[in-house]
Amino acid sequence: MNNGRDTIVGGGMDSFAGRVAVVTGAASGIGRALAEQCAREGMKVVLADVEEAALHSAAGEMAKAGATVLAVRTDVSRAGDVEALARTTLDAFGGVHLLFNNAGVSGGSSTWESTVADWTWVLGVNLWGVIHGVRTFVPIMLRQDTPGHVVNTASVTGLVSLPYGALYQASKHAVVTISESLHLELGFLGAKVGVSVLCPAFVQSGIVDAARNRPSELLNPPCEGCTEPAEMAKAHRRLVEAGLAPETVARRVFQAIRARQFYILTHPEANFLIRARMRAILAQRNPAIHPRLLSLVGLRSNGKHAAPAWLRAGMGHLFPRLKPLLE
Ligand SMILES: NC(=O)c1ccc[n+]([C@@H]2O[C@H](COP(=O)([O-])OP(=O)(O)OC[C@H]3O[C@@H](n4cnc5c(N)ncnc54)[C@H](O)[C@@H]3O)[C@@H](O)[C@H]2O)c1
Repeated sequence: MNNGRDTIVGGGMDSFAGRVAVVTGAASGIGRALAEQCAREGMKVVLADVEEAALHSAAGEMAKAGATVLAVRTDVSRAGDVEALARTTLDAFGGVHLLFNNAGVSGGSSTWESTVADWTWVLGVNLWGVIHGVRTFVPIMLRQDTPGHVVNTASVTGLVSLPYGALYQASKHAVVTISESLHLELGFLGAKVGVSVLCPAFVQSGIVDAARNRPSELLNPPCEGCTEPAEMAKAHRRLVEAGLAPETVARRVFQAIRARQFYILTHPEANFLIRARMRAILAQRNPAIHPRLLSLVGLRSNGKHAAPAWLRAGMGHLFPRLKPLLE
C-alpha cells in the first residue's frame, strides 16, 4: 500500500482478539508489559525468555489473571531455539500474527575496550535475536496470508551515536536498518504483514542488570586498568529508574500498530539528538556532543531548555567523561 507520498504504509493488524502473539524477552520490563497488553487485547500469548524462573513466574501470574499463555524457554541468540519456539507456537495455537523481537541486553565499555566476549554476547542477543526472529517467523506469517505485524525493539540509540555506547548502539542501529528493509520488502510484496521499530530512550526495567543472563562462557576476565564500568552502570541505573513505565510504552506500541506507524519514538524530548545527527551527516560535519545535551546536563550554563527528569537523574554521573570532550 502506498499513501501517495512515496511512503509505503504496509500491511498490519486492526483486530487482535483471538490472535496469537509471540514476545521475546517477555519475563521482564518492556517485554512483560507488551505480553500483558497482548493479553488485555484478548490475544493468546507465547512468552519466550532465557531466564526460566522469571519466565514461568510471569506466565503463571498472567494465566492466573485469565490470559491464555504459553511459556517457552528460548535463547534468542540461538537459531535452533527460535526455530523450536516457532514450532511450539504453531503446535499450540496453529498460527502467529504478532511478533515482538524484544529480548535485549546492554553491556560493553569504551569502543576499544569492549572485548570479543562483550561483542559476541550483545550482538548475539540484540542483533542475531532479531535476525533469527525475522527469518523464522516472517515466512510463516507470509504463508498464513493473514494480517500480521512484527515489532522489533531497537532504541533511540539506534538512531544516534553517543560515547561509550558503540557496542549497544551497533546492535540497535542494525535493528533499525533491518526493520526498514523488511518494511520496504513487505511493502513491495503487498504483504498483509506490517513492521514497526520501537526506539525508546529510558524505560523502567531490568536492563541494567542484564548481566544476570550472560552465559558463563562469555564472561570477561578481570581487566587491570580498563575503564571502570561501575560509574557508567550507576548513571545508567538512575536513568532507567527515572524512565517511562513499560506499560506506557506497551500502550504506545499498540497505538502505533493500529496506525500502521513504522517508527515508534516514545521520548520526544530526545528527538533533537536524532535531528542533530541527521543534519550533521548531510552537512558533512564531524560528530559532536550536542550543545543542548551539554546545557541539559549543566555543562553549559546558558542553555534555555530545562533538563527532563530522566536526563537530569543520570547524566550528572557522566560529567567527568563528557568534560574532556569540550576541551
Ligand atoms: N529499558 C530501557 O531503558 C530501554 C531503552 C531502549 C531500548 N530498550 C530495549 O528494550 C528491550 C527490552 O529490554 P528491557 O529494558 O525491558 O530489559 P529487561 O532486562 O527488563 O528485559 C529483557 C528481557 O530479555 C531477556 N533476555 C536476555 N537475554 C536473552 C536471550 N539470550 N534470549 C531470550 N531472552 C533474553 C531477559 O531475561 C529479560 O527478561 C531490549 O531490546 C532493550 O535493549 C530498553
